[in-house]
Amino acid sequence: MERLDKYLSSRGAGSRKEVQGLIKSGAVTVDGAVCKQTDLKIDPDSADVTVNGQAVGEKFVYIMMNKPAGVVSATEDSRDKTVIDILPSDLKRRGLFPAGRLDKDTEGLLIITNDGDFAHRMLSPKKHVEKTYVASLDGEITEDTIYSFENGVEFSDGYKCLPAKLEIGENGNKTVGIVTIFEGKYHQVKRMFASCGLKIVHLKRISIGNLYLDSKLPIGACKSLTNLDIQRIFIGNIH
Ligand code: URA
Repeated sequence: MERLDKYLSSRGAGSRKEVQGLIKSGAVTVDGAVCKQTDLKIDPDSADVTVNGQAVGEKFVYIMMNKPAGVVSATEDSRDKTVIDILPSDLKRRGLFPAGRLDKDTEGLLIITNDGDFAHRMLSPKKHVEKTYVASLDGEITEDTIYSFENGVEFSDGYKCLPAKLEIGENGNKTVGIVTIFEGKYHQVKRMFASCGLKIVHLKRISIGNLYLDSKLPIGACKSLTNLDIQRIFIGNIH
């Protein structure tokens, strides 16, 4: 059971204070009847709650963000703007967090959610959910680089990466590396290229599992994921 005011604010109806005001003004119904009691205990799974006649949203939120460079993949930061800071205001109080990290200077597909179990499933090292990145580099990708990626790059600390796929692609008139990895170590893609003598000058994630960054989503914008989108993350998963 959950307090009505807490239930409403956790589902995006406003701050705790705002929803208390709404409840007291008679704008809220529970199971068809106006309720003015802010601390009424309701069953969050079965109660039918409306605010100004509108059904209250789902508990879990799943967002695709086209992360810009310059913001950090965290919920709070004392110095930098976070991906949560740049969400539209109606998504601010939903307990959202980034499911996984992109470096501050990396752009592209980031999933933001408040569903801890889902995030755990997506990020679990055992699941090997694949992630694909487009990397612009300061030098040429050679057959040797592709071979090293295929065989598992070894970092200077002795860690041997899982085999990864590296293809040469084009972005405008520039050659880029399209790399697919099955794990998510710290600075993984940058370190893999660094081990082969190449420096990344721009990095963008374009897919997680079979979910692709919407090419029409402007940098810094976000959109809700459908159930099918969420399933796509796990389709083709080898575990
Ligand atoms: N690998 C990196 O080096 N950086 C990222 O942001 C993601 C993967």
